[in-house]
Amino acid sequence: MPSAAFSQRDLRDALSNFATGVTIVTALDAAGAPIGMTASSFNSVSMDPPLILWSITKTALSAQAFVEAAHFGVHILDASQTDMSNTFARSGADKFGDVEFNVSAQGVPQLAGALTRLDCKTWAVYEGGDHWIIVGQVQDLHTEKGVGLVFSQGSYATASQLRPPNPSKDQSGADLGTFDERLVYHLSRAHRQVTQDFYVAVRAEGLSMPEWRVLASLHGRRSAKLDNLSRRTFVGHLPLQDLLLRMQDQGLCKITGEGADMDVSDTKSGRARVAHLLELAKHQEQHAIGDAGREGLSRLIDLLDTVISNTNS
Ligand SMILES: Cc1cc2nc3c(=O)[nH]c(=O)nc-3n(C[C@H](O)[C@H](O)[C@H](O)COP(=O)(O)O)c2cc1C
Repeated sequence: MPSAAFSQRDLRDALSNFATGVTIVTALDAAGAPIGMTASSFNSVSMDPPLILWSITKTALSAQAFVEAAHFGVHILDASQTDMSNTFARSGADKFGDVEFNVSAQGVPQLAGALTRLDCKTWAVYEGGDHWIIVGQVQDLHTEKGVGLVFSQGSYATASQLRPPNPSKDQSGADLGTFDERLVYHLSRAHRQVTQDFYVAVRAEGLSMPEWRVLASLHGRRSAKLDNLSRRTFVGHLPLQDLLLRMQDQGLCKITGEGADMDVSDTKSGRARVAHLLELAKHQEQHAIGDAGREGLSRLIDLLDTVISNTNS
């Protein structure tokens, strides 16, 4: 055999620059016991028929059992599953002791928690040097939402989306330079889009924005101090005192104390005035957040709270 111009180590290091996802492949051996191993050699092959492949080192204890298995399952791991990946990367260990799994009618051990599971029928097995290349025909699949686990340069990583390096045009073709990468651009655009229809609904109720903010701030609270309301409405102490007194005259709130010691609570008619606006705000929030869900919303709120606290002068 001609000697290569590089060592196995060089080849391994060079190939480690190819970032891959991480999978766990499972099957039953001839005795019906579950087998499984972590594999990053997984790849898609064909859409019609639906084919995938992975390769297994001939020295793996489970190699023969995988080559002989009529069916196998590929579990594409979520970024939270590094422990499971490590468990299934240990040669010969009792890999199924601590994991939740079912065995399908075709005899495929199905692990819980993967991003995607592909139930496959073995379609072909090829010899590829010191590995077996196993091609499977996908017979069924199950997918969850999440972020995939990545393996790159010998370490686990997660896949986060890159922004285009130099986005210079929006949909209308306007030149945006790099300003659209700035926080302030995203804050102001999101604020404008989320609030524009809402402002129309507030005005249709005969309320000004500061009046709406006072009533929304009082919602679900026993009372609020002047200083607190000033921060929430963006109105200074003195004009806010005038506004609150006018709102009290209209029966929208109740004031005890004076000046900076004002303590403001809501009234039945104030609550009734904003009930449908609060519902509308909730629906708009759900629409705006979409698939990010409650978890995404609470992460966004945490980050915005950090921005608020860091910029509070
Ligand atoms: C991230 C990662 C990816 C791996 N990918 C493969 C692979 O594609 N093929 C392979 O044969 N071994 C791969 N391994 C090593 C096997 O998981 C390991 O050798 C396996 O536990 C052997 O199991 P067995 O000897 O019990 O059969 C990988 C290990 C890690 C940590």
